[in-house]
Amino acid sequence: LQEKAKLIHEINRLKVEKNAVILGHNYMEPALYHGVADYTGDSLELCHRAKEADKDVIVFCGVEFMAETAKILNPDRKVLIPSKKAGCSLASSITAADVRQLKEKYPGVPVVTYINTYADVKAETDVCCTSGNAAKVVASLDSDKVIFIPDEYLARNVARETGKTIIFPDTHMASATGQESIEKVFIGWHGKCEVHDLFTVQDIESVRSQYPDVVVLAHPECPPEVAQAADFSGSTSAMIKYVKEVNAPRYLLLTECSMADNIIAETNDKDILRLCSHRCPHMAQITLEDTKLALEELHYEVTVPEDVAAKAKLSIDRMMEIN
Ligand code: 13P
Ligand code: SF4
Repeated sequence: LQEKAKLIHEINRLKVEKNAVILGHNYMEPALYHGVADYTGDSLELCHRAKEADKDVIVFCGVEFMAETAKILNPDRKVLIPSKKAGCSLASSITAADVRQLKEKYPGVPVVTYINTYADVKAETDVCCTSGNAAKVVASLDSDKVIFIPDEYLARNVARETGKTIIFPDTHMASATGQESIEKVFIGWHGKCEVHDLFTVQDIESVRSQYPDVVVLAHPECPPEVAQAADFSGSTSAMIKYVKEVNAPRYLLLTECSMADNIIAETNDKDILRLCSHRCPHMAQITLEDTKLALEELHYEVTVPEDVAAKAKLSIDRMMEIN
């Protein structure tokens, strides 16, 4: 514990020395989340914080696509990520070439891309979305057909919410009697979050049988049957807000497990249950030790080619105008 306290002290000293701000995603381990982050939040909130940042250096304690988005939104700052190994199973599920193929197959259909993607994919996108604003972004398009990529489960969950049917290009046979005749349609992709994919309806049933009064909160990256069996579904920050504002005897959080540790530390009067084995291996790459090194060495700098960044920025800006 003393070692952690020393690291926290040193990181906070280096922050001042290097004129840096630390942005921390809600999934950061408690020592980072409570000890060194200047701002914490979900993907959408951190986009806004990144855009507003006025320090020379932004240290992004989160995964690579988030740091890349910060660089696109605030290109004059030096953006650092403490580990080069902080990927994301959703971001690596789709390439820019895949999106170009989808656009060729479905010409004129607007492309909504989850923020959990890399810059070159965003550059092929009309408008980005996060788990916090996906339904709003879709509603803003005024189009019955939408290419909604790459998270299959988020697409299925938002399709249900917005009254759309979902089809997939690999199983979709174009024919006069085929799916093209369906009017309100999402064209999806089979990307998945490797962490939220682990939650099952049986998990919910087992906890409900032990604690019938539990309120279940599920992130929209969970399988649709899990999101439907839950009492509430929303972004990481929406889940935190719910726990803080809605009184319940106990809560079950179906999301990355560090987040529950962070809320427990802030709300010690609440009974919060979680499945402790479900830690995101990518978020877990970001440690106090590496954050200190990142500030000392000013590494690892995140860069995005200018032409890609310019196109990607349009899709992120459009999203941020909506919310
Ligand atoms: P939020 O935008 O809800 O924070 O989600 C980001 C993420 O990666 C969830 O797995
Ligand atoms: Fe990606 Fe899932 Fe990890 Fe979020 S929790 S960063 S979606 S792998």
